Amino acid sequence: MSGITSETTADRVRRLRDDIRYHNDRYYLDDDPVIADVEYDALVRELLDLEAAHPELADPDSPTQRVSGRAADTFTKFPHARPMLSLDNTYSIDELRAWDARVRKGLGDQPFRYVAELKIDGLSLSIAYDNRGRLVRGVTRGDGVTGEIVTANVETIPGLPKRLPPVALAALPLQGEIEVRGEVYLSTAEFRRINAENVEEGERTFANPRNAAAGSLRQKDPAVTASRRLALFAYELFVEGAKPLPAQSEALDWLKSAKVPVNDASKLCDSIENVIEVIEGAGARRDELGYEIDGVVVKVDSVAQQEALGSTSKAPRWAVAYKFPARQVTTRLNDITIQVGLTGALTPVAELEPVLLAGSTVSRASLHNQDEIARLDARVGDWLLIEKSGDVIPRVVKVVLERREDGLVPFAFPTACPSCGTESIRIEGEVVRRCPNPDCPAKRLKSLLRFKERKAMNIEKLGESLVGKLLETGLVRDAADLYALDLAKVTELERMGDKSAANLMEQIEASRSGGLARLLYALGIRHVGTRIAQVLAGAFGSAEALAAATEEELTAVNEIGPIVAASVAAWFRDEGNRHLLDRLRDAGVSMEAPKVVVEAAEGVAGKTFVLTGKLEGFTRDEAAALIALRGGKTASSVSKKTDYVLAGSDAGSKLDKAVSLGVTVLDETAFRELMGEGEDRKLANLADDSD
Ligand code: IVH
Repeated sequence: MSGITSETTADRVRRLRDDIRYHNDRYYLDDDPVIADVEYDALVRELLDLEAAHPELADPDSPTQRVSGRAADTFTKFPHARPMLSLDNTYSIDELRAWDARVRKGLGDQPFRYVAELKIDGLSLSIAYDNRGRLVRGVTRGDGVTGEIVTANVETIPGLPKRLPPVALAALPLQGEIEVRGEVYLSTAEFRRINAENVEEGERTFANPRNAAAGSLRQKDPAVTASRRLALFAYELFVEGAKPLPAQSEALDWLKSAKVPVNDASKLCDSIENVIEVIEGAGARRDELGYEIDGVVVKVDSVAQQEALGSTSKAPRWAVAYKFPARQVTTRLNDITIQVGLTGALTPVAELEPVLLAGSTVSRASLHNQDEIARLDARVGDWLLIEKSGDVIPRVVKVVLERREDGLVPFAFPTACPSCGTESIRIEGEVVRRCPNPDCPAKRLKSLLRFKERKAMNIEKLGESLVGKLLETGLVRDAADLYALDLAKVTELERMGDKSAANLMEQIEASRSGGLARLLYALGIRHVGTRIAQVLAGAFGSAEALAAATEEELTAVNEIGPIVAASVAAWFRDEGNRHLLDRLRDAGVSMEAPKVVVEAAEGVAGKTFVLTGKLEGFTRDEAAALIALRGGKTASSVSKKTDYVLAGSDAGSKLDKAVSLGVTVLDETAFRELMGEGEDRKLANLADDSD
């Protein structure tokens, strides 16, 4: 092949890679593809063929090496360089001591040490860095022998370096790839946030943080993974073709030096007694960690001694898991009550004999719906097995049938609304029964409680008991009545001082100008959570335009699917709802999306930004929200189509690439200027879903 030909081939390969990355971003991150699938497939095919014919042009960064394959419904398989073993479990201190005795015997009474680490309850992941320290691959455990490539998703894990610092690399016997293994998990706070959002949006919830983490890691759309804020603790290190570091404790230290997140609770222990102390300490602190652990992993520290002890085909002999006792308890089901939700959903609740579980008293647990009660066959008077992980919501696992007494009758789900007595309805294909009465007092209460939420109209002073009183006294029947409240009347209400009443009035006044997104969320339209509310506000700009939109026009908007579209259209068709909206408008409640979107858009609208490095003044979500509000887009990788790279501290390869392509690089100050100071923080707050 002549020099000229190979040069053009290299150029073509480079162009194809850039183009495919750009189209991946349009498709995955923007949900706004600009070419048809067949055209996209043709580009990938051409690149694959060129790469096969020209191995010298191979590049681990090539989009062909990543999860793209957007038509595929499975991930690409990848064989692990060495199997990802599991651990033998011990469930008591006696069993642990027996294991320790075997280790001591196996080592012929040489001196040795243990490392005790928290056993993080997530899923294990293998991350490969090339010998220049660039993250090249993320692979799930799979069956331990073969996993699945989830690189694009792994790249979204905050705090996981995409490039290892050269100083740390220099300290390793560098040969081939560096493999880091660790546990991916979700904090309990993030788990609750995701589930709350799923509830709001009418989606199913995850049973525990582990399932949520697994679901988030195996997403076809990395933008979804990114929105889930996964986390990782690393606990193993291998260097291809080189001898391992001499001890587990040294591997952990190296990982720390390389800025790879490592759990800081690990302890070097001289004896099993020491290990037992760590176990007791971890058990005591379990509820305060902010993430789930299910035990402590005990490992022989020295790698030479690990090798001497060896492994079975399933698990190493040099390590063991001490598992905490399960956090389950049995208690009596005293009653099943029915709660009425904002949209009239009737939710059965198990009223339990109060019982202590994982540090708090549990007296209620959701039974979700009629079908779930039938599945459990839960009867009033039964003994139930209740489970709780972390500070997570208690869950009914099963009925303890062995303890069922004679004469208990199957639960008859009441078909009348417990609040207003109206006959409930169950729409075909739905599991939930609903009260259809728009005047139902329970629905009115829930609607007002939604309306005043911080993420809605932000009328914090309107507490639950006050809302109750306002409804009881007839001063308020719906949200629009709040704006006609009379200060004197409010002050008269029981235990309402002058100052509190005045504050309340002030907050109600301020809520008028919250803007369309807040209002849409506040209205409690089914399937419209904060995120969807922002999308709708951004796309339609005014309540009037949204009310006039057909389901087709609604589904044409990114992120709006047919279920949301049908629900929104139905809400606006309802005469009572339209009347409420008119009265809110008459009361001076803003029905528009903030104007600044258009005003500040110049220089940003239509431009593509890539964010990299650690930002000081914003979270990435806030920066992305500012860009989006001004009509710009965010992409994950830098290409020649990138307009701006916003570089924070520790920016890595994306910054290098921006510089080499001549893309404009902004620091935070320049970024603020471009966005127009002042309104920024307010807008960012508005766009922030996280609280
Ligand atoms: S070491 C050969 N260390 O527990 C040893 N595993 O039940 C491999 N896990 O598959 C694992 N925290 O997913 C190790 N500090 C820790 C861990 C840990 C959680 C998980 C891991 C493993 C499972 C075994």
